[in-house]
Amino acid sequence: MEKADDAGVYKVTDDLALVQTVDFFTPIVNDPYWFGQIAVANALSDIYAMGGVPKTAMNLVAFPAKEMDLRVLRLILQGGIDKMREAEVVLVGGHSVEDRELKYGLAVTGFIHPQRVLTKRSLLVSDQLLLTKPLGTGIINTAIKAGLATDKIVEYVTQLMATLNRQAAEIMQIYPVHACTDITGFGLLGHMAEMIANSEIGIEIFAERIPIIPESIEFAAMGLVPGGAYKNREFRENMIDFDPAMDKVFSDILFDPQTSGGLLIAVAKEAAPYLLEKLREKLDYPVQLIGQVVAEPKGKIIVH
Ligand code: CO
Ligand code: CO
Ligand code: CO
Repeated sequence: MEKADDAGVYKVTDDLALVQTVDFFTPIVNDPYWFGQIAVANALSDIYAMGGVPKTAMNLVAFPAKEMDLRVLRLILQGGIDKMREAEVVLVGGHSVEDRELKYGLAVTGFIHPQRVLTKRSLLVSDQLLLTKPLGTGIINTAIKAGLATDKIVEYVTQLMATLNRQAAEIMQIYPVHACTDITGFGLLGHMAEMIANSEIGIEIFAERIPIIPESIEFAAMGLVPGGAYKNREFRENMIDFDPAMDKVFSDILFDPQTSGGLLIAVAKEAAPYLLEKLREKLDYPVQLIGQVVAEPKGKIIVH
């Protein structure tokens, strides 16, 4: 517990450890079946980010039974079960409470080899940083709530958030990966900052290579930026050195809180082109090499 990571690890034997995490939230899309799928993809993601394999899960449900039709809950749970089946995770129980605000998520247990745990902070100088999903889901979700998103973009972002990080996690196992995390509430820069805060290394980001959902630029320019993005900026701004020519809208996207975002993978430099090629071949969304670990300046992120 001294170093917060994506999930907790408990060693059972020399070649088996349990990896455990819990995550739940309020609906981010209107469709209950898809909300169930997204909540499960999001909860499993922390296991994948550690390099683990999720095995069992328990439902966590808060439901306003007096105001809402039980059919809504049934659809959410069905979406969740279908996503767990896809991930080959067994639902072994759960717990529900009555609450004014609907919430759904999972407590997850997975397996991991004790020597192959991928923590957030084990980056090495010259490691290359790969990102497996485009950014902008928080901004798009804000536009959906404002009724400004088209059906097409709603569908795109729903599928994106419901996509498991499983394949990316399986592929990275066979390459010399040193560290990994999944991009969620703190946004890309917030999670990167966690990886290097008060450390002896820094990060250089190649801004033009960062995969972004194109519509999120438009919406961010209209001011549809979630409050979390401003909090993320305020919290970590002092660690980040932006190119002065950079558009403020672009930096909003780098701080945008993501739901069920992609994996940020730090891989040894010589293996990076091969891992990148393999990920691009197998994944449905644009994968990019977006930056690298540098010796100087220490504890800082340079975006240019
Ligand atoms: Co995480
Ligand atoms: Co989490
Ligand atoms: Co109980």
